[in-house]
Amino acid sequence: MSRARVLILWNQVDEDVVELWRRDGRRSPDWDPTRIVEEWDTVAEEVQLLEKCVREGGHDVVAVNIRDSFETLFQTITTERPDVIVNLVEWFHDDIENEMHVAALFELLGVSYTGNRPIALSLCQKKPHAKALLAAAGLPVPRGIVVEKGAAPADLALRYPLIVKPAYDDASGGIDAGSVVRDREALDKRVQLIVGDHKMPALIEEFIEGREIHCAILGDAALPLYEMQFKPGGVDNEGRPLPGIITYRAKWDPYSRDYYAMESKCPPDDLEPEVVAHIQAIALRAYKHLGCRDYARVDMRLDPKTGDPYILEVNPNPDLADGCAFAQCVRASGRTYEQAVQEIVGFALARARNRQKGEPLPSETLLREYLAQRRRQTR
Ligand SMILES: Nc1ncnc2c1ncn2[C@@H]1O[C@H](COP(=O)(O)OP(=O)(O)O)[C@@H](O)[C@H]1O
Ligand SMILES: [Mg+2]
Repeated sequence: MSRARVLILWNQVDEDVVELWRRDGRRSPDWDPTRIVEEWDTVAEEVQLLEKCVREGGHDVVAVNIRDSFETLFQTITTERPDVIVNLVEWFHDDIENEMHVAALFELLGVSYTGNRPIALSLCQKKPHAKALLAAAGLPVPRGIVVEKGAAPADLALRYPLIVKPAYDDASGGIDAGSVVRDREALDKRVQLIVGDHKMPALIEEFIEGREIHCAILGDAALPLYEMQFKPGGVDNEGRPLPGIITYRAKWDPYSRDYYAMESKCPPDDLEPEVVAHIQAIALRAYKHLGCRDYARVDMRLDPKTGDPYILEVNPNPDLADGCAFAQCVRASGRTYEQAVQEIVGFALARARNRQKGEPLPSETLLREYLAQRRRQTR
């Protein structure tokens, strides 16, 4: 692969909480002073590592934090004139819906970029829409309904326990110990919290009690699986029992009790090779069916009785930071982190280099035909 100009774009406006923890010398969680919390990388450091990987792949690389500014975004692209953009932008103007518009800008500017296209970004972010498409393709998803406003219907044809999630959120936003409900009273309270207080449609799903398995996908290949295991008896910071789910705090707060209530395993133990292959095949079908490309992560739970996988969601823009699930799966596949980053850049670079004009659209053909016909007649 010859040398290319690579532009890494990311978006961070607020102070980095990891930076603050570090500055304050925060070592232990309040609830256990004997425990020492491992220091995390800041987002800027995660980007620096990606930058290094791209540079070691033999490319010229610049990384820019667009800081929620369209002018910076636009001007950086027009002045840098990159061959490829590494797109790490998720939220823009505090709105996850804008994730697709940022990718759409790259499309309109004709610049090749890594990761998913606008429609896949948008579709996957709308969990009920993505689920409807997956179900229509015969792919297994938990049964559920969406409550746009008010309460859940009285004749709810779903079996308890249920989980109530914000329909359009991401990264375990709005997921905590109270998300899993076991009776009507708890359900109504939780729906009220999401629909009423957060003004967001709620997705109510049957809670799949079985193992939680994630499948990272790189290009057209499903990588080795990743399991999130939940320790029995886990409680959150308020002492509420944790129902064995990845809560917001478990994902993002290393000082929380939630964080210590789970443990990752990559690859998982005790899964027969044909079961692994089946789960990977389901994940890959979901990825393709939602129009994904380059990379994604499919979150699943296994039925506790049959072991059959259910797709919870497809993440078209998963965290690529070293240490996250995606990076662990990459390593389990025998690649280094650097190789995977270079592979992703390679996908976008290949598209930039293969950009050939296809056949004209049918309407254009019609116009040409007609013009040619008129020319013949006026000759
Ligand atoms: N139907 C379900 N059954 C069991 N657990 C679920 C279900 N839906 C979500 N969860 C739990 O909640 C977590 C977050 O839900 P998910 O649908 O992956 O949304 P996101 O990661 O975008 O917040 C999952 O990782 C899983 O632990
Ligand atoms: Mg998820």
